[in-house]
Formats: sequence, C-alpha cells, structure tokens
Amino acid sequence: MLAGNWKMNKTPSEAQLFANTLVNALAGFNSFDIYIAPVFVALDRVREVVSSSNIKLAAQNMYYEDSGAFTGEVAPKMLKELKVEAVILGHSERRKIFGESDELINKKVKKALAEGLTPIFCIGETLEERQKGLTFCVLEKQIREGLNGINAEDVKKVVIAYEPVWAIGTGVVATPQQAQEAHEFVRELLSKMYGIDIAEAVTILYGGSVTPENFFGLFIKPDIDGALVGGASLKESFVELAKIMAKIIG
Ligand code: PGA
Repeated sequence: MLAGNWKMNKTPSEAQLFANTLVNALAGFNSFDIYIAPVFVALDRVREVVSSSNIKLAAQNMYYEDSGAFTGEVAPKMLKELKVEAVILGHSERRKIFGESDELINKKVKKALAEGLTPIFCIGETLEERQKGLTFCVLEKQIREGLNGINAEDVKKVVIAYEPVWAIGTGVVATPQQAQEAHEFVRELLSKMYGIDIAEAVTILYGGSVTPENFFGLFIKPDIDGALVGGASLKESFVELAKIMAKIIG
C-alpha cells in the first residue's frame, strides 16, 4: 500500500487539481493499493476526480460517535457517504498537538472497523524514547492499547503505520535496518497476540521522511509492506514512489 497523507495542505481547488494529475500519472498501477488523504473539506471534490480511478480516498481523522454535540468533529458515516475507504488514526501529530490518548485512538479504531473503514493506525517512538532504549516498550504499549478488544478477524483489516516521530517531516529517515527491526517487532507482537497467520496478514507501513531517494531500500525489507508519505505525497514525487513500488513488486 502507498498512502499519501496531505496533512493541512492544499485548498479544495488545489487538492482537486493535484488529484487530477495523480489520476493520470498513476493509471495502470494496479498491483498495490494507492490512497490519498486530503483535508476533510477537499474530500468531496477529490472524490469526484478519483471516483473511477485506481486511487482510493482516505481521511486524516474521525470521531467515534455517529452524530451529536461534538463541535468540530466528523463521523465515520459522513466519510463513508463521500466514498472514503480508509482513515488515518493516532497520527503522532494528533497524539502530540491534539493530545490524543491510546484509549481514544482505540475507540476510533474500533469504530472505523465497525463502520467498514480501514484504519491506518499510527504508532512510533520519539527521539528521546529511542535514545533511552524504550522503542519496543513504546510500540508495545501503543499496539496493545490501540488494538485492545479487537479480535483476530478484525485486526487483519487494520493497517499499522510505524512512524518514528523523529523521522516525521524532519528529513531524517529511519535506516532500512531500523525500520525493519521495528516492523519485525510489531509483527512478532501481533503473532503473540493473534497467531502467526494473522500477523502475516496485517499490512505494516513505514512512514517518516520517505522520498524516492530512500524508498527502495526500505520497501525491499521483508516486513515493510508500503509507506505512509507526508511531504513527498504533495508533489510528483508521489508518482516516483509508486514507480519504485511497482518495480519491486514486479
Ligand atoms: P513525512 O510525514 O513523510 O512528511 O515525514 C509522514 C507522515 O506524517 O505520515
């Protein structure tokens, strides 16, 4: 899977224009899933552009209730009406800037599954945690709490994105070895929690300063099933990433 997280970039008209460029440039890439995640207010216009293409629509967040007095929030059903198929949950920017807890993220992941949306569930350690040797502890806590109460059948539908916080938007990408090590840890943990078959069925993306220059080395690693891309998804480089992926998948 190749997923572009546009974050708080591009107005609806800019988003529509760029989606159109992508539809043309990415036509024919059918050996993996391609998602783009524009801002909420651009979803409808982007939907019109991608509706008969191989590009799928994702949202960057949602709330876990159906409707009601939740000022500023968006419900899963509202996204589904716009043909959104996946939703990024627990991104480190949401955790850090907006104070989202593992418990809240867990509610959102469960709700997304209940509504038939694919959760792209983000985890990752900060630089300080890595330097203290806490990376695996942090990942384990985020996974156990984020997936709390989710059964084996449902967990197969969850996409996990390992995004070391120190690599997001910094230009400092994890080395393929560092990323593989974390992905392997996550898969082994899933295997302990759900069994090996389930663990192998889960898609685990790497995210954090992915570019066409560093993607090949990452994507050839056995436990890296794709990428969640921020900065490089806003430009033509997203197409380059798709080309690299297609080359490796064959
Ligand atoms: P980046 O962001 O590619 O700009 O580092 C990745 C992400 O936050 O998903």
